[in-house]
Amino acid sequence: MASNIKSFEAPQDVANAFASRLIDLLNQAKSSGTTATVCLSGGSTPKLLFKTLAQDHANTDWSPLHFFWGDERCVPADSQESNYGEAARLFLNDANIPASNVHAVDTSLDPVAAAAAYQQQIESVVAKDSAGIPAFDLMVLGMGDDGHTASIFPHQMELLASEKICDVATHPDSGQKRVTVTGQVISASQEICFLVTGANKADVLTQILNDQTGSEQYPTRHFSDLPVATFWLDSAAQA
Ligand code: 6PG
Repeated sequence: MASNIKSFEAPQDVANAFASRLIDLLNQAKSSGTTATVCLSGGSTPKLLFKTLAQDHANTDWSPLHFFWGDERCVPADSQESNYGEAARLFLNDANIPASNVHAVDTSLDPVAAAAAYQQQIESVVAKDSAGIPAFDLMVLGMGDDGHTASIFPHQMELLASEKICDVATHPDSGQKRVTVTGQVISASQEICFLVTGANKADVLTQILNDQTGSEQYPTRHFSDLPVATFWLDSAAQA
């Protein structure tokens, strides 16, 4: 059963608390003279996080951090659907961080080529674990109301076991193609933070956090018991 649960009242409280966690990681990297790799998520709570970072940390030097995305929609960066595009518009474009530290999926390529190119980007920057899998220092994930995480959806559970670092996913309703990190990359992370808010997540989240029978159908369940996984929840998601 997942035990690492951080409870908050509202989504903004989740964003504020996680912003503090990110600043701690940044300060840790600064004080040790190292860099750290952060894999961001799309979704509504990360958007609150980006607004909070832009508002409260406008002059922060983010250069010790490298930002990646755990999944990306195969759309142009100027699309409102772009996870990178939203983070850039809300935070990164005005942040004190070198462009070379911001690693977006090249969605000008076809999905298969984009996934292969992103895999190379990740492998060229992210330190590998003893099994040779890129191990992000901090993996930020959301959870859909169908239990998906990153862009690993319940109808594509094979992405949990893919031998690739990045693979192509398909949204179950829209058919939209996406690039996603695979299960082994998520599991290799030094720290995994699920930012989950909203009443529409409560039913699936309860099943997952209580290891209920059948919860293995949800991709998020395959990471919830990892010692490095923490759930950052608002009250609505825990109802
Ligand atoms: C995406 C996200 C996705 C998201 C969940 C939760 O590209 O859509 O990476 O995995 O985290 O769908 O999204 P919300 O937080 O908006 O519910």
